[in-house]
Amino acid sequence: MSTTAKELQQTVASLIAPGKGILAADESGGTIEKRFSAVNVASTQESRRDYRELLFSTPGLNEFISGVILYDETIKQQNTTGVPLPDLLKAQGMLAGIKVDSGTVPLAGFPEEKMTEGLDGLAKRLTEYKQLGARFAKWRAVLTIANGIPTHGGIANNAYALARYAAICQDIGLVPIVEPEVLMDGDHTIETCAAVTEQVLNVVFHALNKQRVVLEYMILKPNMVVPGVQCTVQASPQQIADATLRCLRRTVPGAVPGITFLSGGQTDAAATENLNAMNVLGIKNPLPWQVSFSYGRALQSSAIKSWHGEASNKEAAQQALYLRARLNSAAVRGQYSA
Ligand code: 13P
Repeated sequence: MSTTAKELQQTVASLIAPGKGILAADESGGTIEKRFSAVNVASTQESRRDYRELLFSTPGLNEFISGVILYDETIKQQNTTGVPLPDLLKAQGMLAGIKVDSGTVPLAGFPEEKMTEGLDGLAKRLTEYKQLGARFAKWRAVLTIANGIPTHGGIANNAYALARYAAICQDIGLVPIVEPEVLMDGDHTIETCAAVTEQVLNVVFHALNKQRVVLEYMILKPNMVVPGVQCTVQASPQQIADATLRCLRRTVPGAVPGITFLSGGQTDAAATENLNAMNVLGIKNPLPWQVSFSYGRALQSSAIKSWHGEASNKEAAQQALYLRARLNSAAVRGQYSA
């Protein structure tokens, strides 16, 4: 086995350690500004650093969190005592990851659809991130359900970029998190979400295969199969778990070691309950992959509200994050109870 393969295997094994999940703290400048303004905090380089430092230094977080996804600015920042944030994570027993796509643009020729960019110069950027301490990476494709979309072309273009990204990551020794997100926005039913998610995952795995991505050394980060937020018929955790696992069993090869869901706008409690329902089913009928979480909002929203930009609220915010991480870890084991 080559050194790179060994390195990828070790990283993947650490990321999907039993009962553990991933914290997504890779909000871009615009997104973190939105999250901060909801709690009346100005987004500055310093406030962003203070907030991320608070999250990462939560005592005991590594009992439940194996890795943290960072944004370009964050991976280059130091804490108040001059320790680079990736080193802080390492000292806390967590791996550093990095968001490497550069966001979405309208997909020319495909009205209302989007394309994720960032392949140009990617190998060079990944090499730099690795030197800064990153061990894994993330790229997010975004698919919207609406009249006539997503089209096959929209899905295929995004799948191609995801697959090229994943191949480049593996070449450099970073484990790629492959994130095709079918958004919850809209009034579509759970059945429509199931059909679209199944189509998207089929196209994505076909593209990964064509680009020679080693499935054993990647992690899939999909949406759960849920009704659109404006759909009049909502679904129970049991229905969501059934629909999601049916879709994943049909599309995701057993060679993929881990599936870590995004929360996508679900409430904290719903994201935990739905994950738990899947792992409860997995106890009865074993799943071929570890089924865990890579949540952003569903891990951070109570912490950010407790923090409110005040250093004096640091402990309360850390306790809020610790609690969500602990409950989601219980859900990974199918042992969560509300
Ligand atoms: P959410 O859990 O807030 O959807 O964020 C996860 C993520 O990494 C989106 O790219």
